[in-house]
Amino acid sequence: MAYKVYVYGPKKAFPIGGLALGTRPPFNVFIQDEGLFTRVIYAGQRYGPEERSELLARGVTEVFVDAKDAPELDAYLKRTSEDVPAQNNDPETVREYLEHMRDYYQVERSFLAHQNRQIDFAIYRFFDLRLMPVAEPVNNEFASIPTELQSLRGDIVIRNEDIPRYQRYIDAVIADMAASDTRDKQKFQAIAMKEKSKTIVKDLLDDPRSGENIKKAMNIVSDLADCVLSNRDVLYDLVTLNTYDQYTYTHSVNVAVLASAIGVSRGLEKDMIQTLGVGALLHDIGKSVIPAHILNKPGRLNLREYEIMKGHVVEGARMIKFNEAVSEEARLVITQHHERLNGTGYPNGLDGEQITTLGRICAIADCYDAMTTSRPYMDAGTPFQSLTHMKKEKASYDWDILDSFIRMLGRTETSESAG
Ligand SMILES: [Fe+2]
Ligand SMILES: [Fe+2]
Repeated sequence: MAYKVYVYGPKKAFPIGGLALGTRPPFNVFIQDEGLFTRVIYAGQRYGPEERSELLARGVTEVFVDAKDAPELDAYLKRTSEDVPAQNNDPETVREYLEHMRDYYQVERSFLAHQNRQIDFAIYRFFDLRLMPVAEPVNNEFASIPTELQSLRGDIVIRNEDIPRYQRYIDAVIADMAASDTRDKQKFQAIAMKEKSKTIVKDLLDDPRSGENIKKAMNIVSDLADCVLSNRDVLYDLVTLNTYDQYTYTHSVNVAVLASAIGVSRGLEKDMIQTLGVGALLHDIGKSVIPAHILNKPGRLNLREYEIMKGHVVEGARMIKFNEAVSEEARLVITQHHERLNGTGYPNGLDGEQITTLGRICAIADCYDAMTTSRPYMDAGTPFQSLTHMKKEKASYDWDILDSFIRMLGRTETSESAG
């Protein structure tokens, strides 16, 4: 953006947030510099994260178009703010999307709306393969969180390098909560633990052979299990979180929470719940070696890609094979989570008694979380639709366990509506 084009003439101002990342605005964009207008993006140029950072670094909050381009600008702003999927799967968009999946980290939005707290990191919305700024501090100052945050569609994400700032933010919210009423406090503490688990699983997926990372994962499982065991209400808060994740780390933590909850409802002993939690948290660890263009493909996988994807089970088993901290039962959860009771699963087509109780529980939690999750190309099923679908596939799942899971979710909804 080294343009030094000084242009006079009437201009129309709009906030910099109106520029959507990854788009090509069909008009010249200017900034005002000591009374002069400098063109920073020419018509048709791609507006990406680098361009954005550069403008923010210069303290720009407002940009301009030529007054004659006002109708174009209005149409552009309308188009980029609408939540209508663009069905735009051109290779460059997909490539950018994959980069965003790698460089950005999904966070829990209910945390961000806390008591008008301000943030010292930028938050973005990731929807329909596009990344859009939601709030960002300029010049190292704080940004407020917009009130409409809770209703925005898509994922709320931050830059990977802001994860430590986000964690400090979580700690500050928890400290705020110390004096508040118990119900809210427990809820936020539980969500904080879930957020912490996510960062641990993310590190683990980035470096799956690190013994240190596996140890941290196992420790957090015991905290999660304690939390689920000691307070059922907390469990409901965790299970009913509205997620749009397509991220393996979020999915892994969801499955660990759901599986532990099923374990509790089945009356399993604490050490069994711990084992189940470890297996469930690690169940997709093998996805760390699946190429990103297959793992995060914004569309259906073709047969060949699907075969590669299925390899995550065997890969996962291989990764933890020599890790003595992971017990044999936990290992079986990893190897069996895609097996089905009627023998239609993979990798070994096991059936009936060959699949352990913990493996059956993880299969149900895994499938449920996958179905209630939005994808870039598909809206999430509601819990009801997902359960109905699973009931139709009755022969695949342990009916008894599925039944207690449905009852558990039913109670969850009752407790929600009761306040
Ligand atoms: Fe899996
Ligand atoms: Fe999974």
